[in-house]
Amino acid sequence: MSTGSILVVDDETKILNALGSALKGEGHEVVATSSPRDAQKLLAQRLFDVLIVDNLMPELTGLDLIRELVASAGPGDRPQILMMTAHATVESAIEAMKLGALDYLQKPFEIDELLVVVSRALDHQRLSTEHRYLISERDDEFNHYGIVGRSRRMQEVINTSQVVARTRSTVLITGETGTGKEMVARAIHFHSAQKEMPLIKVNCAAIPETLLESELFGHVRGAFTGAITSKKGKFALADGGTIFLDEIGTMSPTLQAKLLRVLQEREFEPLGSERSQKVDLRVIAATNRDLRQMVADGRFQEDLYYRLNVIPIHIPALRERREDIPVLVEHFIAKHSKRAGKRIDGLAPGVLEALQSADWPGNVRELENTVERAVVLSPTPIVSPDVVRMLGVATTAATGLPSLNLRQNLEWTERETVRRALESSGGVKKDAAEAMGISQRALSYYLAKHRVE
Ligand SMILES: Nc1ncnc2c1ncn2[C@@H]1O[C@H](COP(=O)(O)OP(=O)(O)OP(=O)(O)O)[C@@H](O)[C@H]1O
Ligand SMILES: [Mg+2]
Repeated sequence: MSTGSILVVDDETKILNALGSALKGEGHEVVATSSPRDAQKLLAQRLFDVLIVDNLMPELTGLDLIRELVASAGPGDRPQILMMTAHATVESAIEAMKLGALDYLQKPFEIDELLVVVSRALDHQRLSTEHRYLISERDDEFNHYGIVGRSRRMQEVINTSQVVARTRSTVLITGETGTGKEMVARAIHFHSAQKEMPLIKVNCAAIPETLLESELFGHVRGAFTGAITSKKGKFALADGGTIFLDEIGTMSPTLQAKLLRVLQEREFEPLGSERSQKVDLRVIAATNRDLRQMVADGRFQEDLYYRLNVIPIHIPALRERREDIPVLVEHFIAKHSKRAGKRIDGLAPGVLEALQSADWPGNVRELENTVERAVVLSPTPIVSPDVVRMLGVATTAATGLPSLNLRQNLEWTERETVRRALESSGGVKKDAAEAMGISQRALSYYLAKHRVE
């Protein structure tokens, strides 16, 4: 069962104490007050997951309190509201629910009933937070392509993406790992006239060669041992939309030949089928390899290369466009402080310089991971150079050496920090989160991510 922070307001101290201890017994964090004025102040100061409020109180009614709360905070920024009503005054309960309360409890009620209602309210709260998060992610993703960058070369990438989005031409996106190839592919699709149609991604490197063919083209029943039903391939699924062939450089020569045929004729046969199928889709391919060199070495089919390289988009490595680093850092601080529910006001002097002079072999992905960890681990709203140093950001200036294995180093640091915080809090998540200065929600995320028990 999930636990949360709960504010209980009732002018009768006996009830207040009974409810408070029952809720604490379930592991919730409880703040109880008999004064609605106090409650007003508390609600203005901090966030609670659930508010349980009596209706008839001398200074201010529960309804007044709810009305005020609803007026001052949007649905995602306020607790789930539960109203208690003594006098079977169902009208006020209904009024409360109209205002946005989740439920009401009619006094006298059993403690068990309360616990059930509270647990449901906490589930609601969690879902509404997740929902808001997903929406903000989606907005991030689709606003101005979600592509951040002010360097001339990124501006060119953005411009080309915009132009090519209006066509159905095949696009080949190249660039080192973590430069944003997939992001650009998605941007192109979601700004095309086919944006309502599917975008189907195939990671050619992640699927064993023997399976890739049926994955791409599908198969009919009995096509091979184990093919007990027919299955549609990714090309058929992407019909009308876009197929994104990621890591195209790893494709075997046999499949390269088959792919070439699809690109030339816009038709293919599912495995084991005689009938060919027509498709109408856009192909976007991506690779971090040098395909031209692979062609020269005889490892990539020349015809296929030209069929793919209709509109080339090359994303430069981050170290070749360091002027993008400040805007990216700003973007990622905003994104991850929102996600972690943590306030970060900025960077201490010297931090941005350190980030800007690092080599970033993992490019934007690595920078994003570093900023995310700094946001989570920073004990203060201003990220100090210590935090960044602890994360192992190796600057060329400081060490003269490229950083090695930075990603593993970062993973380790993050996991260790979380593990140690939990250890020294004796396993109490609330205390560990407090010690790290992050929300319990953020802590849970990191615990799950690193499978820390
Ligand atoms: N210009 C950018 N603006 C904002 N976010 C970016 C930018 N470039 C990359 N990112 C972010 O960096 C991460 C890595 O990007 P992406 O997955 O697109 O890289 P990739 O080139 O496909 O990497 P790989 O070759 O390893 O598959 C993503 O979280 C993406 O959102
Ligand atoms: Mg990728």
